[in-house]
Amino acid sequence: MDSVENEARRNAACQVAKSSMSKKTVDRYKPAPDLLVGRTILVTGAGDGIGRAVALTLADHKATVIVLGRTAKKLERVYDQIEQAGNPRPAIVTLDLSQATVEDYEKLAKTLDDEFGQLDGLIHNAAELGTLTPLALYDLGTWSKVFTVNVHAALMLTRACLPALHKSKDASILFTSADVGRQGRAYWGAYGVTCFAVEGMMQILAAELEANTAIRVNSLDPGPVKTAMRTRAYPGEDTEHLPEPESIMASYLYLMGPDSKGVTGQALSAQSC
Ligand SMILES: NC(=O)c1ccc[n+]([C@@H]2O[C@H](COP(=O)([O-])OP(=O)(O)OC[C@H]3O[C@@H](n4cnc5c(N)ncnc54)[C@H](OP(=O)(O)O)[C@@H]3O)[C@@H](O)[C@H]2O)c1
Repeated sequence: MDSVENEARRNAACQVAKSSMSKKTVDRYKPAPDLLVGRTILVTGAGDGIGRAVALTLADHKATVIVLGRTAKKLERVYDQIEQAGNPRPAIVTLDLSQATVEDYEKLAKTLDDEFGQLDGLIHNAAELGTLTPLALYDLGTWSKVFTVNVHAALMLTRACLPALHKSKDASILFTSADVGRQGRAYWGAYGVTCFAVEGMMQILAAELEANTAIRVNSLDPGPVKTAMRTRAYPGEDTEHLPEPESIMASYLYLMGPDSKGVTGQALSAQSC
């Protein structure tokens, strides 16, 4: 059930999002060097690929970044790079999202509260690719693992972080999606289905938080980017032409900073709007 006013508000927000996130606007977006000063932002899958670039970029714009991932060594390298650049000291959370329990998320929530008091951003970036296999043959163990990391962990982490996000005056939750989660494509199996689920979770959460909270919720499809996951999905591809993760950071800065205030419930794309 939806009121006419709510629908009108959503349409207006959609217009804002379309105009604010057009490729031209993002290409021209010049974030202030200290855009994220005073903000604490948690990024999952921050040890490699897009998540690593996001963590470094947010820190370069003066956010305190909480880097979450499963490989401590990779997270420590990101930590060191942020410190060496003289940016706000980050924090590391080593957690395998395929194994994490409700207690792990509760512990994380307590640490967030004790250490930071509030959270201004949450970027769900870690994902499990699974295999490219017809649904008729898809291995159910792999199916379950992909759902655990891409959907269940995102829900549990969001719930754990909500109290800290509610304490922020301007908080942003960003889910990572992909084109195969917006239009079904053969053989993308559990990964494709979980991207659809993530889009649904984003829309429902955005609608629930739209009234009387300062938390906006959107999803972003990074588009094709040169990372280990891309190579796993397209092993024979010539990667020469693929953009580096660093080249798509404007969308992340825009969505984590104050310039995207009022943009919520939108399925956005980093490379083509
Ligand atoms: N690259 C693309 O072309 C593309 C296109 C569309 C969407 N995306 C989406 O963009 C996001 C980032 O992708 P990417 O290409 O940067 O992937 P990536 O290079 O494989 O990096 C993913 C990161 O997530 C971490 N991770 C994976 N499973 C985890 C788990 N169970 N617990 C904790 N951390 C885990 C990985 O940890 P380790 O370092 O330990 O492996 C890695 O640091 C994903 O959501 C992906 O679906 C990517």
